Amino acid sequence: MNEIKTIGIVGAGAMGRGIAQIAAQAGLEVLLFDVNAQAVAAARENLQQMWSKLAGKGKISDELAAASLERVTPCSQLQDMSRADLVVEAIVERLDVKRELFQQLEAIVAPSCILASNTSSLSITAIAAGCKQPGRVAGYHFFNPVPLMKVVEIIDGLRTEPEVGDALMTLARRMGHTPVRAKDMPGFIVNHAGRGMNIEGLRLAQEAVAPFYQVDAIMREQAGFRMGPFELLDLTALDVSHPVMESIYHQFYDEPRFRPSPITAVRFAGGLLGRKTGEGFYRYPEGKQQVPQ
Ligand code: NAI
Repeated sequence: MNEIKTIGIVGAGAMGRGIAQIAAQAGLEVLLFDVNAQAVAAARENLQQMWSKLAGKGKISDELAAASLERVTPCSQLQDMSRADLVVEAIVERLDVKRELFQQLEAIVAPSCILASNTSSLSITAIAAGCKQPGRVAGYHFFNPVPLMKVVEIIDGLRTEPEVGDALMTLARRMGHTPVRAKDMPGFIVNHAGRGMNIEGLRLAQEAVAPFYQVDAIMREQAGFRMGPFELLDLTALDVSHPVMESIYHQFYDEPRFRPSPITAVRFAGGLLGRKTGEGFYRYPEGKQQVPQ
């Protein structure tokens, strides 16, 4: 397989930006597209600020900061992905939308281009099912925030060619990440194993055993997690994590262990999504977390 030099990223939200950051820092050319042109502009601005902050703190050189920004090309149409060696999709978590995007991409990119999805919960085999070359489709599941969370899951769908996953493993290492290979099962590894803490945390709150911030505190301070389940839900945002919880539950044929909670359903419906909306389980005035009393 040819070396991946140019990466296309579709979806310039939290995950797309993070992937753009580590790719550009590793020397790849980055083509960044989003249906919302403002998201692309905001992502570029955000990357610029991030690199200048990192350079200011001496974490990267001024030259690397400038060169990384130079390597990011904002794109105004999907067609601009035509010269990518790999396209990573980080759009809305919906199978129908992802499938349609992959079909559109196949008509644009070269036959050798790898198509990868950052999906948290959807089946890679199902996303690839609508493609003419399903062998080039794989999962590339990064975690939020991408530059700090150094693990990436590489998911082989039932039709994925082994060399495709191998190429993604090599690229992950080049970007400073540790790749882990997983089979195409709902939730893969992390979102399957992580269900336990999330769902039991929600049950504790629902059954009023303890308020959510105490559950967070105990998981952080006593169980050694970097964040408690509610802090993590706020970081991920409920428009991403609630559908993921529903998707994993249904894919396991309504297995009670994975049953989502009405607590997140009502907050998702009401737009209390987390940090991105300034209000989730916690409030975030000027980006600072506050515990509701
Ligand atoms: P986000 O909501 O921050 O960004 C998604 C972006 O995709 C938006 O800017 C939106 O305008 C754009 N978009 C939607 N439909 C599109 C389309 N058809 N074509 C082009 N752009 C489109 O979402 P986030 O958090 O970046 O998540 C994206 C994907 O990554 C989802 O599949 C999610 O499950 C997955 N993911 C999210 C994680 C998280 O913690 N937020 C962690 C790991 C994976």
